[in-house]
Amino acid sequence: MISDPFRGFFDDGPRSPRTEGLVDVPAARAWFEVVGWGIRSELYLYQQPLEGRCGPRATLNDRAMLVLSSYDYLGLIGLPEIEAAAIDAVRSHGTGSGGVRLLTGTTSLHRDLERDLASHLGTEAAIAFSSGYAANIGAIAALFGPRDLVVADSRIHRSVLDGCAMARVPVRTFHHNDPAALRAALADRGRARRVLVAVEGLYSMDGDECRLPEIVALKEEFGAYLLVDEAHSLGTMGPHGGGAADRFGVPGSAIDIRTGSLSKAIPAMGGFVAGSEELIYYLQHGASAFMFSGALCPAAAAAARAALPHLACGSDRRARAWANAARLREGLAGLDLEIGGACSPLVPVIAGEDETAYRFARNLWDRGVWASAIVHPAVPRGRARLRLFATAAHTENDIDEALTAFADIREKGLISAP
Ligand SMILES: Cc1ncc(COP(=O)(O)O)c(C=O)c1O
Repeated sequence: MISDPFRGFFDDGPRSPRTEGLVDVPAARAWFEVVGWGIRSELYLYQQPLEGRCGPRATLNDRAMLVLSSYDYLGLIGLPEIEAAAIDAVRSHGTGSGGVRLLTGTTSLHRDLERDLASHLGTEAAIAFSSGYAANIGAIAALFGPRDLVVADSRIHRSVLDGCAMARVPVRTFHHNDPAALRAALADRGRARRVLVAVEGLYSMDGDECRLPEIVALKEEFGAYLLVDEAHSLGTMGPHGGGAADRFGVPGSAIDIRTGSLSKAIPAMGGFVAGSEELIYYLQHGASAFMFSGALCPAAAAAARAALPHLACGSDRRARAWANAARLREGLAGLDLEIGGACSPLVPVIAGEDETAYRFARNLWDRGVWASAIVHPAVPRGRARLRLFATAAHTENDIDEALTAFADIREKGLISAP
C-alpha cells in the first residue's frame, strides 16, 4: 500500500493551478502534471510516513520494509547514548532554544558541539547552522559577491548554487571531478577579484570521492579559495570519519571552508561551517542564515555532539558500510545494471528516464524494498537513478535480500538497463 500525501487532491484527473492564482507559475504547472500522473499511476512514493525510527528496516503503512535509501551511514539512529543525550538536553534546556544564536538562543550545548566539531575536523573553529543547506548559503552569501567567481564542480549540491545566487556571484562549472577541467577554469578567471572552488567530499548523487589532493594543489597554484561540502563524507571517509580531508591526509588548514550536515552520518539535524577562527567569528555576524534564523534546538545539538565520538572511533561501522556497499555493487553489476560512482556506501543505480526510475522504485516497493528515485532536476535529464545507501546497520542478509528483489525485477524484464 502507498499512502497519498495529497489526500485525494489529484484523484479526479489532471489538475493544474487555478488560472491567475498564486501558484499559477510554470514550475507549479509542470510539477502538478508529474505529481498528478505519479499519484494516479501509483508511482509517487515520496513523502511516505515512517512509523518509528528509520533503520535498515522500517514500518511504512503498517508494512515492514527493507530500507535502502537512508542517510544513516553508520547505523547510529537509535543508539541509546545518542538518544539519551537528546532527552537530557530537552530536560535541561527545553525543546526550543528560544531565540537566534546572537541573542538568546546560544546554549552551552551549542558551544560544546562547535568546539567538538572543530576538533573532529581539525580546524580552529566551527559554527552550527540549522541545516547543511543553511550552512552553505550562509557562508557563500556572507563571503562572496558580484566581483568574485565561484568555480564549482558540475555536480555540486543545490545549496551551494543557491548560496551563489544569493551572493549574486557568477558561477562557472567544471566537468565533474576532473582536475584538468578545473585547471582550465581557474586559468580563465577573467577579471574576477577572488575565486572560490566548490566541491563535495563525497558526491551526493554520484557516490564518488572528490580528488582532493589535486584540487588543493590547484587552488594553491591559482591563489583561489576552496570550499569542501562534507555532507556525505563526514563519518564515511577517513580513518577517523573526518571526511575527505581525513581520507586524503590533507590538513584542515588547507581547506578554507568546510561545510556539512548533521543529519547524515550524524543522526541529528543541523549543519556546520568549519575553518579558521577569523572565518567563524565573521560568519557569526555576517551570515544571515545564522543571524536571522532560530538556533538549532538543544536536542539536535546534544545528539550531534554525542554522535561525534562514534564517528571518530567508528572504523568498524565504516568498514561494515563499505563492505556492504561492495557486496551490493557487485551483486547489482552482476545483473548488468549501470552503477555510478566508485566503491562508496552511496550506490547510484542508473535508470535513465525519470519514469523508469519511478517504475524501478515501485517494483522494489512491491517486493518490500524502499529505495528513493532521484530524478531531474536533482540529476541531469536521462540520468535518473535509484540512490541506495549501504549502511553499517545492514546485514549481509539484508543486502542479499535487496539483490534478490533486483534480480527478480530484471528476470521478469520489468526494468531494462538504460
Ligand atoms: C552535498 C549536500 N550538501 C548539503 C546538504 C544539505 O544538508 P541538510 O540536509 O542538513 O540541509 C545536502 C543534503 O542533502 C547534501 O547532500
